[in-house]
Parts: sequence; structure tokens; C-alpha cells
Amino acid sequence: MNKLDAKEEILKLSEAINHHNHLYYVESNPVISDYDFDMLLKRLQELEQQFPEFAFDYSPTKRVGGDITKKFETVVHRFPMLSLSNTYSEEEIQEWETRLKKQAEGGLEYVCELKYDGVAIGIRYENGVLTRAVTRGDGTQGEDVTTNVKTIRTIPLQLIGQFPADFEIRGEIFMPLKSFQKLNEEREENGEALFANPRNTASGTLKMQDSKVVAERSLDSYLYGVYGTDLNFPGHLEAVNAAGEWGFKVPQSKNRFIEKTKTIDGIMQFIHFWDKERHNLPFEIDGVVIKVNNYEQQRKLGFTAKSPRWAIAYKFKAERVETKLEAVTYQVGRTGSITPVANLTPVQLGGTTVKRASLHNSDQIEKLDLHEGDYVYVEKGGEIIPKIVGVNLEKRSTAAAKINYIAHCPECQTELIRKEGEANHYCPNEDACPTQMKGKLEHFISRKALNVDGLGAETVDLLYDKGLVRNQADLFDLTFDQVVDLDRMADKSANNLLIGLKEAKNVPFERVLFAIGIRFVGETVAKKLAKHFKNIDTIRTASFDELVNVDEIGEKIAISVQQYFMDEAHNLLIERLKKAGLQFELVEKEGASNKLDGKAFVVSGVFTSFSRDEIKEVIESNGGKNVSSISSKTDFVVAGDNMGPAKLKKASDLGITILSEDEFIQLLKN
Ligand code: IVH
Repeated sequence: MNKLDAKEEILKLSEAINHHNHLYYVESNPVISDYDFDMLLKRLQELEQQFPEFAFDYSPTKRVGGDITKKFETVVHRFPMLSLSNTYSEEEIQEWETRLKKQAEGGLEYVCELKYDGVAIGIRYENGVLTRAVTRGDGTQGEDVTTNVKTIRTIPLQLIGQFPADFEIRGEIFMPLKSFQKLNEEREENGEALFANPRNTASGTLKMQDSKVVAERSLDSYLYGVYGTDLNFPGHLEAVNAAGEWGFKVPQSKNRFIEKTKTIDGIMQFIHFWDKERHNLPFEIDGVVIKVNNYEQQRKLGFTAKSPRWAIAYKFKAERVETKLEAVTYQVGRTGSITPVANLTPVQLGGTTVKRASLHNSDQIEKLDLHEGDYVYVEKGGEIIPKIVGVNLEKRSTAAAKINYIAHCPECQTELIRKEGEANHYCPNEDACPTQMKGKLEHFISRKALNVDGLGAETVDLLYDKGLVRNQADLFDLTFDQVVDLDRMADKSANNLLIGLKEAKNVPFERVLFAIGIRFVGETVAKKLAKHFKNIDTIRTASFDELVNVDEIGEKIAISVQQYFMDEAHNLLIERLKKAGLQFELVEKEGASNKLDGKAFVVSGVFTSFSRDEIKEVIESNGGKNVSSISSKTDFVVAGDNMGPAKLKKASDLGITILSEDEFIQLLKN
């Protein structure tokens, strides 16, 4: 094939694919089979490989992703990206409308729209080709996420029809509920942490470095605003409708996603309609937006510092459903803390089926005055776990008994205790309550603790159930024969497990201290204690005052540490672990110093020669401390690639020294 023919076929194929893509994703009205579509795409991919000079930036093959964005460039918006003033009150909408009517001459027309709960995006098109997509950021500047946005099937790469030569279109990128559920199901199967809600997931997805993953996440969009210097539309609705003609997914009046009205009644009807109907949408909305349609009137009304006077958002109150409380069950955590859980008759809420809700603690049950068989109101805000917010007293039977908090551990029947000032009940049987001990063993071998290769939570549970292991030290007495006898254990995996345990002997003291699982001694506290006291015996014998004198060690931790060592079983355990060869003494790291003594650092972004954790480790081994958010107490920000512009701005506003990776290394050298 010669070049000319190749180019011609590439252009034809692109046009055909764009057309079918639009029919499928925007119009939901495909006219060819998926197979035929795939064949067209495959042919285009082949040709582009053969003739890379014709693999254009706007080619539909870009939809499948594959390009990596190492660093999301900061881009200043050509038109600031403002937010909307919003309200939960219908009365305030009425007041807003009355105010506007007084100011505007010649009557007003309003456009009512959905308030999509996603991530705002501004996309520039030059000569009909998508050239740049930028997130809202702080409204003045955002991040260039073009590569990722190109994978979103409802955002055209090339426009059709009569479009302006240079303009920006704005709208919302969101994750449809189905995609969100599917993603979380996959994550659950893989044992990964679940995403909290579609909005945060969409936002996180847009900032992923690998566009291939973005392409797989099936994000979607609705566009709701056209911006440019010489656009000739009388008003907003006309511009949005035109954008639909150019190939964008825009709200349509046929399904009431957008509606024009002249009256407050019309506005209220739209609000009421969507307050009910929103549950039937395939994506989340958090309200509706009302805008003055006419551009000239918009211009006259103008803006406040943050938002236009010609628009307002009405936000819906959190979604709430009623369902039956079937039972309250209790979970025991690794530290013995008891969590009551409400088991509910399954009910649909915000697009997911809810079967359980956390009740937090006994006070919460008391406050709700829960009775058996109660009908309860369940609400879901942004969080994964829905909460019970009240009881429908009208449905309570007079015979219903009050729910009494359990007095004994559901796992080992030990009497529960509740310490003064604490919200939760505890099972004090910390070394023999099976659930607690299993939890402690799982924690002991986990990645941030001893990180034992070849040993997972399931095997630990099995070892416990078989009576082969009753505490952490027993692990080091395991023999090959004992291990290989376990279900699903081959020679090789048994060997790996024993090797993994041997390697645990190289794990530094601070992680061993974290691993043994003293209450309130997390990773950071363990580091502090190790650094200050140098070995386990000084910690064991430290007085209360000595403990609380260590930076960031409070009374609660000090008491817990002392209590731990008051128990002879724990001292025995440590002696056995010492014998097994675990490290109970600090080895000062090479390169350790006091150079950064007392300095507070925030580390953010992606780095080239270090991981973020490595940088943090270097900071600590040189006496500095890592803090999570920027404040006036921060001394330095170590900024890697794609650190958010808002954070950078905050740091510079506060006059904090911002260091690049190289500057940070330099700082340590000097
Ligand atoms: S118009 C100057 N229309 O809500 C007004 N915004 O608080 C520009 N949003 O950042 C926004 N649906 O992310 C507009 N139909 C809609 C919207 C919408 C959702 C979001 C958008 C914006 C935020 C404003």
C-alpha cells in the first residue's frame, strides 16, 4: 500500500469509528455489531503501526489508552473555572429568583439542569480537534489530564458539523454506578480496599498515570457550558444544543435532563421531579442547577468573587431509606475492640444494596434507643458504610425488647470491659481470645510489620485452629513436617514459609516493636520509641514520665506501653522472640544524622530516584518529622511530579520552602 492510499484509508476508518462510537456511547443506538466495530479498530491500529506518520493525536485508537503521564502539567485556565453558590433550601431559591427578577429588565428565562456529581473538566478544541483537557484545580489553574480524558468514549476527539474554530467546553466527568459497582466487586475479590464513592473514584481515576487503566474504568461525561471569545449564541441552552450537534454528550429536554422555564413554579417542579427521580438515574447527581439563559442578561448580572450571580445550585438532602433491623452482631478486632454491626433487610440505597450498617459503639445503640425488629432509617453520604440515623417509632411493636449491649465476648465469652473515657468495649482476654490472637498474628506477619513472605492470613488462621501456633513466638518453632501437613501446602510453599520466617530476623527493631502489637503503638509511635530508647529493655523499664517526655508520646500510649510489660506473659513472649533471633535493638542507619532535627516535612507527588516512603524514611533517620498536611508549622515541602496545584499554592502562600527532589538531596549533603 502506498502512503497516499494509507492516509486516505486511515482518515476514512477514523471517521467511521468516530461515527459508530458516537452512535453507541452518546446516542445509545448502535447500528453495527461489536465485532464489526472491533474489526474497524483493529484495521486502523494495523495501518497506524505501518504508517506511524499518520497515527494522529486525535485517532480513535487513543481511546484504548496506553500512554503514560508521568507528570500532570499545571495549566492556567483561559476563563476562570468558578463554582456555584448553593443551597439546600427551596426558600432561598425563591429569594434568588425574586432578586434576579427585580434586577433584570424584560423578563428572564431559566435553564434547569442536573448537578452531576463528578469532576469538573474544561476541554479545548482547535479546528475541531481535542487539544487539551484540564481539571478545575483551584479555579485559576488545573492539571492537564488530556491523555486520560481522551479515553472517555463520550468525549469526541474530533468534532462534526459547524463548530467554532477555537473554544472550550466544560462539563462533568463521572463514573456511572454500574461501572463503580463492577470495579468494587473486582477489588473485593482481589482483597483490595474498596472505593468510597463514584465521585472520588472518578477523580482519582482521572489522575492515574496509566491511561490504559483509565480506559478500562469506563468514565462518562455530560457537557454543560461553552466558552470562547467569539461565539454567536444568544444563550446557554442554544450553545448546549449546538454542542450536541458537534458530537458532545449533552443533556436533552426529551428526558428532562435540561429544561427551560420562565417561572419559579417551573423551577420548583424541576427540583421536585428530580428529587424523586434521581434514584433511577444510572449515575449520581447531588442537586440541580438553575441558570439564567440569556448571555446578555448573564453578563449584566455578573459575578461575586467566587460564583456567578446568574446561577445557583439546589442540593438534595442525603438519601435516606427505611428498612428492618434483623439483628445486631458484634465483631472483635485484633486489639479486642468490639464493634456492633446492624444486620438489615437488604435495601437499595444510592445504587447499592445495603445489608449492614456500623453502629460504632454501645452509646450509639443507646442514643438510637434500638429495639429488636425496629424499622430504621439508613442514610448514605459519601462514605462506604451507611449509617443508621433514626427509628420509625410508629412501626415498633409494643412487645419489642430493647437491644442490650453484650456483656461477654462473642468469641471467647470473657466478660467485656469499658475503660473510663473510652467509647468502645474491649475483650480483655487479649492473648487467648481466638479472634484477637489471629488478628495479632496476622498483624505480626503483615507487610509493614515483619513482612513474612510465604505466610498469609489464611495460613495463620489455619495454624491457630490446628493448635500449632498460639502466639507469635510459636511461629518460630514450626517444623517442616508440621507445615507441610497443612491443607493445600506443597513442599515448596512449606519451605518458602520457613525461609520467610528466617528472613524476619533481619527486620529492624522499630518494625518488630510495631509487629508485636502493643495497643496504640502504630508504625510512627514504634519508630519514635525505638529511636529514643534504642532497645526493648529500656522501653520495658521506662517510667511513665520518661515515656511521655518523648516527642508525640501521650499519656494514653504511655499507659498502654506500661500495661503491656506488666503482663508476665508478654515478657516471656519477648524473651522467646529474642531467642528466635528477632531484633530488639536499634541499629543506627547508615547516613543517619541530626541534620533535620525538629523540622517538619510534607512529602507530596511522585519522585524519580526514590519512592515517597523512602524519602520519608530519610527524613526521619535524619531527625526530621513527616506531617500529613501543609500548615504554618510546616518547614519544608518536598514536591515531586504531579503534586496538586492547590497544595503548591498553599505552601507558597505560607512562605514555606518548596524543595524539588534534587534540592532535597542537596539539603542533606550540606
Ligand atoms: S455550571 C460558573 N452546571 O458543580 C458555573 N456546574 O459548584 C459553572 N456541576 O465545579 C458551573 N453539574 O463541577 C454547572 N449542570 C452543571 C453542573 C455543574 C455539576 C459542578 C461543577 C462545578 C460545581 C459548582
